[in-house]
Amino acid sequence: MTRFSAQTKVPVCFTLNGKAVEGEAEPRMLLSDFLRQQIGATGTHVGCEHGVCGACTVVVDGMLTRACLTLALQVDGCDLRTVEGLAPSPDRLGILQRAFRRNHALQCGFCTGGILMSLDHYLRRRPTPREEDIRDLLSGHLCRCTGYSPIVRAALEAAAELATASEENTHA
Ligand code: FES
Ligand code: FES
Repeated sequence: MTRFSAQTKVPVCFTLNGKAVEGEAEPRMLLSDFLRQQIGATGTHVGCEHGVCGACTVVVDGMLTRACLTLALQVDGCDLRTVEGLAPSPDRLGILQRAFRRNHALQCGFCTGGILMSLDHYLRRRPTPREEDIRDLLSGHLCRCTGYSPIVRAALEAAAELATASEENTHA
């Protein structure tokens, strides 16, 4: 059985938004810290660091995941999506992001990356959500600024737009 000391750095390789990345992490290093400090993917925010606020939400192998409750070593070989991967190109926002902007669904933006990841993941699976479904999803995220209503409006508006988009353009 392989044993690691707390200071031993271990190679970590995974796919991040379609691109292979690699680095080294101590066994105790959190995925949220690894993404921000080693990869420079600072769109994944860190609020509570104990799984409550949702700011660090990413997708690992198709599952919504709190990056602050995940060790970097746990995602070795996995496929990760973070908020940096939502926009179809550097100069163009996705449908959900545009709906957030139109509806003023963010203010300080601290919660926004995590909320976008949860909503994107949800809408890919349930393209015709009810308002209560969206509110239920948002119960896993803390936002101190918006009062949530603009976020709900943006999500419903994006869902309607996505429903009329072709499969090819979904989330474009
Ligand atoms: S920082 Fe991960 S849930 Fe708050
Ligand atoms: S926009 Fe500030 S915490 Fe949500």
